[in-house]
Amino acid sequence: MTIKDICASFRIDGRYVGCEELSTGNINCTYQVKFIRDGEEKNYIVQKINKTVFKEPEMVMDNIVRVTHHIRSNIIKKGLSTQKFVLRAFLAKDTDEPFFIDDAGDYWRCYRFIANSITYDSCEDLGIIERAGSAFGKFQKYLDGFDANSLNITIPDFHNTAKRYSALHAAVQDDKYKRVKSVKEEIDKLYAFELEACKLQKYLDEGSMPLRVTHNDTKCNNVSFDKTTGEALAVLDLDTVMPGAVAHDFGDAIRFIANTTLEDDPNVEDVSLDIDKYQAFTKGFITELKGTLTELEKQTMNLGVFAMTVELAVRFLTDYISGDKYFKTKYPGHNVDRARNQIALAEDIIKKRGQMDAILEKYI
Ligand SMILES: Nc1ncnc2c1ncn2[C@@H]1O[C@H](COP(=O)(O)OP(=O)(O)O)[C@@H](O)[C@H]1O
Ligand SMILES: [Mg+2]
Repeated sequence: MTIKDICASFRIDGRYVGCEELSTGNINCTYQVKFIRDGEEKNYIVQKINKTVFKEPEMVMDNIVRVTHHIRSNIIKKGLSTQKFVLRAFLAKDTDEPFFIDDAGDYWRCYRFIANSITYDSCEDLGIIERAGSAFGKFQKYLDGFDANSLNITIPDFHNTAKRYSALHAAVQDDKYKRVKSVKEEIDKLYAFELEACKLQKYLDEGSMPLRVTHNDTKCNNVSFDKTTGEALAVLDLDTVMPGAVAHDFGDAIRFIANTTLEDDPNVEDVSLDIDKYQAFTKGFITELKGTLTELEKQTMNLGVFAMTVELAVRFLTDYISGDKYFKTKYPGHNVDRARNQIALAEDIIKKRGQMDAILEKYI
């Protein structure tokens, strides 16, 4: 089926003009589609959902529809534009479902393209980082009151750090590829972090912390910005929306945005936490959440930064020891470089914790 055929399966009006594949995402296949309606150009996003990552696309779409519905009602209450600030999924003509299944059994969805918007794969500009923080903070805020427990768990134990550690322990025990000896130092470092990194999960398990709706992929290229004004618009990529801790979203965003180098840079001397970027994101995010966070949530925000960094290191190292089966690798040892990079970041986070706490305190 062509993209034009896929578009014809959804309840969208106008005449199909053409499409362009977007390369910014790395999970789904994404196309920007141009239509003409009443002489005006209308843009849509058509995406093939990655079935390897999301085993139950219906569940993913059910979460997205309910979450965007809740956000939309809060945006309307505020008198803001729903076209700008929240994703809208169109229904399929034949089924009225927010997805279409093609002949090959693949799932497609169609969103309104956020008009005149752009996304950034990496962010150097502190203003953009602050506005990204505020967009993710608003996302949290608009979902306050939504029963997180009612969401489908589309990827079980996604941020269960303790389970990620169990997988590492098992892989080390197994040592199927005889790789453990070569990463002894990394394993030791991660084991030394284990107790601290798993604390967040412990608080969730014992119910000391509210379960929130979390985005779980708080990268800057998942926020759309107005091309002209630079204003942050809708938060995109809601595939991984699930119940979690607010510190998961905050921590993972900082881990990604504030690293002074790329996530897989093998030169670990270049890895550190950029405190200015930390401050910018924190200011945006926390300012939106003022008055909504519990005491423990405030106290565990920076623990989240550490935990998310260590968790990813654990996942990279587990994958290396288990034969590089999960993450795509570009060369042998790619996963070790990634793990070392995240370990170096975690070490720097420990060093800068005092500074981070002082900044957080200022905005909380
Ligand atoms: N509704 C939308 N409006 C504008 N751009 C979008 C929209 N949805 C996705 N995009 C663009 O497509 C990219 C990939 O989409 P995304 O949903 O993030 O997929 P992936 O899961 O592959 O990262 C985004 O980074 C953004 O640039
Ligand atoms: Mg994305």
